[in-house]
Amino acid sequence: MEPQKVVEVKGLTASFDEKEILKDVSFSAKKGEVTVILGGSGSGKTTVLRHLLGLIPLTQGHIEVLGKDISNLTEDEQLSLYLQLGVFYQNGALLNSLTVGENVGLPLNQHSKIPKPLVEEIVTMKLGLVNLEYAYHMFPSQLSGGMLKRAALARAIAMDPPLLFCDEPGAGLDPISLESLDNLILNLKNLLGMSVLMVTHEVSSIMRVADHIVYLDEGKVVFEGTVENAMKSDEPSVKAFFSVFRNQQK
Ligand SMILES: Nc1ncnc2c1ncn2[C@@H]1O[C@H](COP(=O)(O)OP(=O)(O)OP(=O)(O)O)[C@@H](O)[C@H]1O
Ligand SMILES: [Mg+2]
Repeated sequence: MEPQKVVEVKGLTASFDEKEILKDVSFSAKKGEVTVILGGSGSGKTTVLRHLLGLIPLTQGHIEVLGKDISNLTEDEQLSLYLQLGVFYQNGALLNSLTVGENVGLPLNQHSKIPKPLVEEIVTMKLGLVNLEYAYHMFPSQLSGGMLKRAALARAIAMDPPLLFCDEPGAGLDPISLESLDNLILNLKNLLGMSVLMVTHEVSSIMRVADHIVYLDEGKVVFEGTVENAMKSDEPSVKAFFSVFRNQQK
């Protein structure tokens, strides 16, 4: 695998209950880029992410994450890989009994031997990155939806993962909060050199953040390439998706 690839998927085929959900899926994500996985509801986007995270056993195909063949890892290697992945789910639920700061510090306290005062400093810095320093001592129930997402993002990046997975991070946000979330993702890429693999339906986000697009239609990759090329694609599903955006622009 070329070193600049953070994810490489080849011939991934997967079934649930004898129904084929992913069909010979191949794509890659490059280091330092934001790769967006697109596709209609049920097209298999989350299932791809779950495979990459090792949450679904690989039955057919080949997956490399950060240069490691995930089907061929010892338990130690698995843990070490897992600790290098930031994960930011759609319902990036924080623990309600802990403060925002404690939530963000949780991965550091669980997986590192960093002394407490230093953890607090790191947490303050991460909360600063998402503009939530003032929420350190607040509880999740006291935060708005957009603030909760930002806090969940701070937690996902607590360990400085070189690779961040996001599954619909912007779902349910108003356009302004969405834009600020996109800017945060761009900052992570530009300032920290993080690579991002993101599932989203928000066309405005795609325009702002995507370097590379992988379009899934009923479990098959029907397009892979730049946003510019995606907008020119003749593939019916890709064309339909971007025509909605063009109509919004008018
Ligand atoms: N654990 C499971 N058991 C059985 N079927 C599943 C399971 N997980 C997903 N599926 C099926 O796989 C297909 C793809 O699901 P997936 O969650 O990957 O879609 P998606 O592209 O993420 O959709 P959405 O945009 O709605 O989140 C769906 O038909 C779904 O019902
Ligand atoms: Mg999904």
